[in-house]
Amino acid sequence: MNSILIDTLKGKKTSRPPVWFMRQAGRVLPDYNKLRKTYSFTELMEDAKLATQITLMPVSELEVDAAILFSDILVVPASMGMKFNFSGKGPKSPVTLKDMENPVNFLKPDESKLEYIYHIIDSINKEKSPDTPLIGFCGGPLTTLCYMIEGFGSAKDFPETVNFFYQRKKEAKKLIDLVTEISIIYARGQIAHGIDVFQLFETHAGVIPADLYKEMILPSVKKIGDAVRENGTPFIYFPKGIGTGLNFITKDIADFVSIDWQTPLSIARKILPPEIGVQGNLDPRILMMTNEKDIICELEKYSAFFSEKRNWIFNLGHGFLPDTPVKNIHTTVRWVKNKNWI
Ligand code: CP3
Repeated sequence: MNSILIDTLKGKKTSRPPVWFMRQAGRVLPDYNKLRKTYSFTELMEDAKLATQITLMPVSELEVDAAILFSDILVVPASMGMKFNFSGKGPKSPVTLKDMENPVNFLKPDESKLEYIYHIIDSINKEKSPDTPLIGFCGGPLTTLCYMIEGFGSAKDFPETVNFFYQRKKEAKKLIDLVTEISIIYARGQIAHGIDVFQLFETHAGVIPADLYKEMILPSVKKIGDAVRENGTPFIYFPKGIGTGLNFITKDIADFVSIDWQTPLSIARKILPPEIGVQGNLDPRILMMTNEKDIICELEKYSAFFSEKRNWIFNLGHGFLPDTPVKNIHTTVRWVKNKNWI
């Protein structure tokens, strides 16, 4: 495969950083929004032809260096018997684990419920150019459990999940193990069907103290990463909000770490071992600005970052906001691709 993303992930020197965006396959694309007028999110996600089309849309429309599977992290809890409803304003979960006396017994992990996604990966592989890498993913154990334990309440910091971790620690550990096990099966399944890179979206890493994250979750992240990397698939880990917990991430955990917008990239670079690559970390809200010059001014702050080792992937510090103007995304991709980095 002739891919600047794969070369970078494998530690080869390239002429520029590769670029892709979290949440590139979705509401920032006019063609996606047109489809959404006819189909629900769930219909789009479950239909192989439509999901393939959406996965590949950003490659042609935004000219990014990779495609990411159009799906969601909630497919893993769904495969364990949880229900999510994506209609209306954001997902809802009628049943949450916090209300159950015995949540561990309620869950019934079943890989066959993920098979439809493997068919989508097969379909994407038939359609895409052989030089376009396909990124697979799942949610990090803590993030996945936040939605399973608490659902989609108004609080963004999942206070009931945190209480659950402190007050029902033994059960929490069992739940973490169950989620980890099915995540490993799912990651291996995606790899068997031909994804080229795997990213773990631990969006809510910051809801518990970093040392508790290290104790309860990081060993599971390593297990998922080990399964991904066992046959050479690169593993990117996005622990959003982990803060100084970056100190706990060693080369045996991930190949690349995706840095959130809160953390200056240069500081993350100093904290992480030099052999770990970094990805990120433009604040997605910068792309809501109306003036192109202001955006370029922000992008220029990354000019010095393409270091000696060049192990950096340009991306956001979290996913696109829904109404991000496409022209600002084009400005960003053009800036990354046309700049003289050497
Ligand atoms: O990155 C991509 O473009 C690939 C597809 C992808 C989606 N969700 C599609 C989606 C990925 C990688 C995700 C990950 C995801 N899903 C995360 C982790 C990363 C992050 O952005 O924080 C989380 C926490 C979820 C759970 C989820 N799915 C929420 C909270 C929501 C509602 C809020 C929102 O941003 O829309 C979703 C819905 C969702 N997932 C949409 C898309 C395109 C919107 C569906 C629509 O209304 O069209």
